[in-house]
Amino acid sequence: MNVAELNRVAEAMVAPGRGILAADESTGTIKKRFDALGVESTADSRRDYREMLFRTKEAMSKYISGVILYDETIRQNAKDGTPLVKLIAQAGALPGIKVDKGTKPLPNCPGEVVTEGLDGLGERLAEYRGLGAKFAKWRAVIDIGEHGMPSYTCVSANAHALARYAALCQSEGIVPIVEPEVLMDGDHDIDRCFEVTQRVLNKTFQELRAQRVAFEGMILKPNMAISGKKSAKQASVQEVAEKTIRLLKSCVPAAVPGIAFLSGGQSDEEATAHLNAMNAIGNLPWRLTFSYGRALQAAPQKAWSGKPANVGAGQAAFTHRAHMNSLAALGQWSESLEKAAA
Ligand code: 13P
Repeated sequence: MNVAELNRVAEAMVAPGRGILAADESTGTIKKRFDALGVESTADSRRDYREMLFRTKEAMSKYISGVILYDETIRQNAKDGTPLVKLIAQAGALPGIKVDKGTKPLPNCPGEVVTEGLDGLGERLAEYRGLGAKFAKWRAVIDIGEHGMPSYTCVSANAHALARYAALCQSEGIVPIVEPEVLMDGDHDIDRCFEVTQRVLNKTFQELRAQRVAFEGMILKPNMAISGKKSAKQASVQEVAEKTIRLLKSCVPAAVPGIAFLSGGQSDEEATAHLNAMNAIGNLPWRLTFSYGRALQAAPQKAWSGKPANVGAGQAAFTHRAHMNSLAALGQWSESLEKAAA
């Protein structure tokens, strides 16, 4: 394992003022997004949409450090025949790839899931590396529910799989994004989210150590400590920021170069405000940035709505969100900048 090279890539993924665009929606998920806009989901329409994002020069060259792709996209060419991976690299960003195969029900644990995809992963990673991937992503999904959910079984099975994936990535020269997502669905309060996420992160790092993963060569992609969407008690931006930092400091080794959050169903502006408030607190051992899917793409998707005439508007919306999140990654965002630039 070449830890120095892995570390170089990981540092670039969380370079100051830059974050990751999660554009790795599975074919089923992107269809749902397109359906909501009345856009037919075909290989070409998915390509056109993603090509629009990757050709957004300002966003891609100034604010985005890397893009997580889906298997279909890493193999696709732009309309003019240029590989999409090349467009990303030409803009100065790193191509990455989602390598998990999604979730399956976890035996003996009703309502809980485990992420699959370890079989043959070494060979798949070698192929993706040949296609240009510098980093990878694996997402574990943990739901907070009644009767002590998540179970120990669910947390440990998912943490083990994340660690096996991360070790395989590093041995193939690919930086793993380790994503244990505690969902914000549900009516739990922020303290319950804190407690569950702490359990999940502690178990994840225990498993990462057991698999001898080099922390210098990975990125953590966690949820924030945040109130459940249906909770009557919604924590303020400051409380989310303070509790998330306290949580991460208690679980994440300082050797990890960076933490890139998922947005997980927060509104675009909430996701930005929370990241900004954390960076405004400052004095952190790792860089804190974004790896947003919905919170970066909802606005450009809507502005585009499948019409070639709207490509300029879609790119403007993407640039705006990427810019706001870049400022948040530096702790320099404010609501007035948000409104002034909109
Ligand atoms: P969201 O920001 O929409 O949660 O997506 C990020 C992601 O990559 C989830 O795996």
